[in-house]
Amino acid sequence: MHTSKISGLGYYVPENVVTNDDLSKMMDTNDEWIQERTGIKQRRHIKKGDGNSTSIMGVKAAKIAIERANVSKDDIELIIFATLSPDMYFPGGGVRVQDMLDMKTVPALDVRNQCSGFVYAISVADQFIKTGMYENVLVIGSENHSGGLDMTTRGRGVSVIFGDGAGAAVLTRSKEEGRGILSTHLHSQGAHAKELSLEGPSTEHWVPKIIEENPQESIPYYPYMNGQFVFKNAVARFSEVINEGLKANHLTAADINMLIPHQANLRISQFVQRQFKLSDDQVYNNIQKYGNTTAASIPIALTEAWEEGKINKGDLVVLAAFGSGFTWGSAIIRW
Ligand code: UT7
Repeated sequence: MHTSKISGLGYYVPENVVTNDDLSKMMDTNDEWIQERTGIKQRRHIKKGDGNSTSIMGVKAAKIAIERANVSKDDIELIIFATLSPDMYFPGGGVRVQDMLDMKTVPALDVRNQCSGFVYAISVADQFIKTGMYENVLVIGSENHSGGLDMTTRGRGVSVIFGDGAGAAVLTRSKEEGRGILSTHLHSQGAHAKELSLEGPSTEHWVPKIIEENPQESIPYYPYMNGQFVFKNAVARFSEVINEGLKANHLTAADINMLIPHQANLRISQFVQRQFKLSDDQVYNNIQKYGNTTAASIPIALTEAWEEGKINKGDLVVLAAFGSGFTWGSAIIRW
């Protein structure tokens, strides 16, 4: 039986720092409200002309991960690209990475699971490695949120939360039993699809057609979030799916060395931390610096935690995510 391990990690965030005070110049909001409700102090936004896009940031993160994995781009046999903000409506970001990294004609798969995108993506990568089909898989989570947010007071309940960035991991086949990705656990509940969504442009809200048929109709082309409903579901599902993962491996919360939660809201992470009785050193948070970067948040946080020496050989690392779909998932990793 093969197992997969994370052999390399990297991240990239745009240079442009946007503080809460910067946002208060664009909309009716303030630093106190944002920090109190979300913990966020600043985020990064792509700046016009800085040469970044969702796939370009993904490539920058991927280059670092590939180098650290000690493999070459030609050793990668599958690209999995998780995003809700692709450069183009189609094709997805994976093929653009294949092109920009000048890789062989390897398969490129896009994952559309929003905040759970990275957990879903590493689960897919893990299955391909476990079956023996591939040895090295590149997994990327990348988001350009700033390109599509409503930066007026109308959109403040959503726009202050999200930031841009990318994270990447190389998953490599390993023969060390009991180490690497022990298990992944994925869920969805489409009944709540609209509670956190961006409806258009899409086939149901096709801009040229709507304008032609009804020039007065407003097009729902900014993200919508029913914040309190999402919050309540998030805290419940995070706990559930972490417990599910621990139980499947006959482990308990006391075994966790590092929990990397999707950076949705610092209050959600703190709630989960209290539920599992974890210390500050056992939960990694960087939402204060980057906001919520959706599919990129876990790989950015995982990379930073690893770079800071907070994840060491033998540690039990738990990844957990919840978001639009609703989708949620966890990964239990023995480092
Ligand atoms: O990553 C995917 C998963 N996402 C999440 O898990 C996010 C979950 N939800 C949340 O994190 C929180 O619900 C938010 C941070 C989005 C909002 O916090 P909240 O405590 O639920 O606030 P609220 O939406 O109930 O709004 C409270 C008040 C409202 O004013 P009134 O009606 O009480 O007068 C809002 O209009 O705060 C107002 N408000 C703002 N005020 C200043 C909403 N956004 C802002 C803002 N600045 N940016």
